[in-house]
Amino acid sequence: MPFRAHAPQQRIWISYDGKALAASKGEPVAASLLAAGRLAIARSTKFHRPRGPACLRGACDGCLARVDGEPNVMTCMVPAHDGMTIDSQNTLGSKNLDLLRVTDWFFPHGMNHHELLAGIPGAQGVMQAFARRVAGLGRLPSTELRPRQAHRRHADVVVVGCGPAGMAVASALAASGRSVEVVDDAVRGGGGLRALSGERSLWSKVDAPFHASVSNQSVVVRSSTVAGGVFGEDLLVVGSAGAEVVTGGVVVPAPAPHDGVALFEGNDVPGVMSARAAGLLLAEGVVVGRRAVVIAGSGGFGRAFARASAGLCEVVFASGAPQVLRVRGNAAVRAVVLKEGDVEREVAADALLLDEPRAPAYELCLQAGAQLEHQPRGFVVKTDEDGRIRDRLWAVGEVKGTPFEPDAILEDAGRVARAIQSSRSAPKSASPPATATKSNVPSKMK
Ligand code: FES
Repeated sequence: MPFRAHAPQQRIWISYDGKALAASKGEPVAASLLAAGRLAIARSTKFHRPRGPACLRGACDGCLARVDGEPNVMTCMVPAHDGMTIDSQNTLGSKNLDLLRVTDWFFPHGMNHHELLAGIPGAQGVMQAFARRVAGLGRLPSTELRPRQAHRRHADVVVVGCGPAGMAVASALAASGRSVEVVDDAVRGGGGLRALSGERSLWSKVDAPFHASVSNQSVVVRSSTVAGGVFGEDLLVVGSAGAEVVTGGVVVPAPAPHDGVALFEGNDVPGVMSARAAGLLLAEGVVVGRRAVVIAGSGGFGRAFARASAGLCEVVFASGAPQVLRVRGNAAVRAVVLKEGDVEREVAADALLLDEPRAPAYELCLQAGAQLEHQPRGFVVKTDEDGRIRDRLWAVGEVKGTPFEPDAILEDAGRVARAIQSSRSAPKSASPPATATKSNVPSKMK
């Protein structure tokens, strides 16, 4: 079970299903819940299987809960504050005894709910009414949300993503005299670097200039702020200040890639998560378990976690090229069955950390009109050799295939920054602006 390695630094109190929990002010709420041993936070929509945080980046839905009366909040993406009220949702009965869990037992081989009892007079209507009752996520907000006015303002450069690529290009542009904003949907900036703990010094070439730029205010970081779409010269961002249309500047997407997933029985059991997510939790002082199996991969997050968690939890490294056959457990990992060569072995553990190859997060660039190219690691964004997608839109970092290595990121960011500077007085291209259509709006906005 997860636990907190040390007492909360700025202790506050939050309520979870009516029970008071201590938390640390400003940490992601999912971290607060995990630190209090609440691992199975959510339920899957259809079969009501227990779900736990797996990504810590708003991409897996394992941390969904009702927060301060608002349903379907990704608790990994909101900071904890004193008096916050969190309630589990999508259950019938209690969180720990969800009667709708029987759905999974009645249909052990899955079911197509679109066809269930369809066409049978009477039964079809009853089934539809039942399905509406049990499916979906949460109830409507407790209070009516008023429409919020988006205000429009100008910006010089907006970098989307505060991971290493975003940090590097932001500080390079700031050094050239540009006024730079960095928006990031996470609670804290730093991206994957925060998950590297003791190995972050390897990235000091990226870290130091960025923090200097933030200190002298040539770079402004806005966390918990989502870039919703690029429409011509406008960038829609939504954050604590509400919705804004930022216009007239240069937009530089630098999104962190998506965690890779692996196929095996039980890969959705709470306690199975990316090693990067476990590293982020560790940076918050939260340890994912007492005994974790780590499948080390090329990302370096598994090994970084193992080193940084020494003395806090026991780490079992799978040697060679291990294959996870299955995870035992229902609402929490109990054991991991591995295959190493021809040998199968079962390892008792309460967490499984995966460091699978990650895939570029191209969605914003695609919505803005970029072309994609398929490579072994996934779809990457096509740019010209300087990183330009089109007029006023540039991409940097892993989204266009740059390796997750300090020198490669710095070289890429430097080239993009120089090209942006030299294009400042160049005439605009005749590229048509991207427009919002149903198909090019990012899926999270639908
Ligand atoms: S969406 Fe919050 S942990 Fe994945």
